This record gives sequence, C-alpha cells and structure tokens, in this order.
Amino acid sequence: MLIRVLGSGAGGGFPQWNCRCPRCDGVRQGTLRASPRTQSSIAISVDHQNWLLINASPDLRQQLTASPAFWPASGLRHTPLAGVLLTDAQIDHVTGLLMLREGCPLPLYCTHSVEEDLSLALPLLPALTHWRGGFNVHHLPEDGITPFSIDALPGLSWRAIPLPSNAPPFSPRRDAPRPGDNIGLLITNQHSGKTLFYAPGLAHITAAVRQCLQQADCLMVDGTFWTNDEMARLGLGDKTALAMGHMPQSGADGMINALQGVVGRKILIHINNTNPILDEDSPERRELAMAGIEVAFDGMMVNLC
Ligand code: MLT
Ligand code: MN
Ligand code: ZN
Repeated sequence: MLIRVLGSGAGGGFPQWNCRCPRCDGVRQGTLRASPRTQSSIAISVDHQNWLLINASPDLRQQLTASPAFWPASGLRHTPLAGVLLTDAQIDHVTGLLMLREGCPLPLYCTHSVEEDLSLALPLLPALTHWRGGFNVHHLPEDGITPFSIDALPGLSWRAIPLPSNAPPFSPRRDAPRPGDNIGLLITNQHSGKTLFYAPGLAHITAAVRQCLQQADCLMVDGTFWTNDEMARLGLGDKTALAMGHMPQSGADGMINALQGVVGRKILIHINNTNPILDEDSPERRELAMAGIEVAFDGMMVNLC
C-alpha cells in the first residue's frame, strides 16, 4: 500500500494568505527553516496507477498538477483518481470536489452525516450533479467494525472508525456532533497484514482509537495544534483546539503522551499554520523527535508493503 501526502497543512494551509503569525510571517520572509504546506489530503494506491483520494482540499488542483502520478495517462481525458473518500465535511476536506467536476461521474465514499451536510448546509453534491451526474455516493459502514473494500484498490481492507471531534462550523450539528460526522480510517494490506491508521481530526482517545494506535504499523494523526489555547495566545480568536475538535500535542492529555509506548511509525498531519512544530529548529520540534514522532510534509510517501 502506497500513501502519498498531497497536503499536510490544516485549513488555511501554510502560510495562510491573510496571516502574519510568527510561523506564517517567518516562512514568507524566509527567516524560518520551514516548508510551505497545502491543505489536508492524502491518496492511497496499491499499483501506482489507481489512487483513492482521501479528502479533497481546496488546493487539489495544485496538488494534482504537482505530481506526475496524477497526470492523465491515456486517451484524451483520463485520471488516475479512482474516487474520493471523505473523513468529514470540513471546508478544507471537501471543497476540492468542485475542482473534480470535469472528471465526473466519480465514486464518493462517505458517511450519511457527511452526505447530509454536503447536500443541505453546504450543497456541493446537488450542485455537482450538473456535471454528468456528479458524484455517486457510497455510504461507509459507521459501526467501526464492519470492513469494506474499494474496487479500484484490491487487496486492501478498510474500516471507518468513529472519532470524537466536531462537525463543521456550518453544520447544524456544530458543537453537538454525532458518530459519522468524523471518522478515522484503519486500512489493512491483506497480503502483509500491515495497517495504516489515518485520523486528521481527533479530539480525544477513545477505547477504539487506542486499539487502532496500538495495532497500526503507521499512524497519521491529528497534528493541528501544539497547545489548546494556541489561537487565543496569538490573539487570533478564542476557540480552543479541543472546541474545534483537535487534541493538542503538548500537555498531560496531549497527543505526545497518547503516543507513548505506541510501536508503529508515528506521523503528525493536518498541521495548523500557528503550530510551532512547523519551525524545524524549534524546541517543540526537537521534543517530537525525541518522542520518535515525525511531521508530515507535502509530497511525503509511505510504502506499507
Ligand atoms: C478544522 O479542521 O477544524 C477545520 O478545517 C477548520 C476550518 O474549517 O477552518
Ligand atoms: Mn481541517
Ligand atoms: Zn499563521
């Protein structure tokens, strides 16, 4: 199983267009050892030819153009993208669907809750039906147990793990999310047994999530914020990380502690532009390195054979 990180940043990307926080300003001015990051998305393949896009970011066009793996490979119109799977209905994970309209119809894998938000509160799916029918929705099993498969990626077994996080700001379920608003993915290579756990939005560690952390050979998990009050400290608003559905890395209940004793490869993804770990010379980045935790970057490839 091949995993390609298309975008390792959180909503807004890095630098964010209107942000002068120390990280955004530093990367813009070249005074910081840090790499720009596009918004949150990965893609999975087993054969290097067919890819399932996991989340479709507003930077999708740029991400697809940047990587020859996603260039059309035959005929006049073609895409290596076999479809899209959404882990939630957040703007940074879904607005790339609009960029895919020229390639419709395409399969879309998501929960009932996500389909509902994208049909009513942010009606991308009805709008896109005007492009040769738009997306064909396949509902994911939401019990956390039932495995499913994706036709274009044979040999992989998938499970959708309900995650405690938050529904999008525009959702009627903002601050009162239900299971299905946020899922993680446990993806197993059936030949080798190797497993990836992908959870870009995660507010705390449930028993099911703990099992996934212990079981997976590679983890790509919520790396949005270093501290719970990161935005407030910088004067950028009063929303805490946890209120937004993201557990911070530092602190007793933070991700670093949660990953202690976990044996799989540990990678943080969906990094917000305010997070000090973006600065490769920061003490926070050193702390991660000491804990054996990596930070995803755009273009990162992981091969779980
Ligand atoms: C999130 O991950 O919490 C959202 O992408 C934030 C946002 O929509 O700005
Ligand atoms: Mn996000
Ligand atoms: Zn910033």
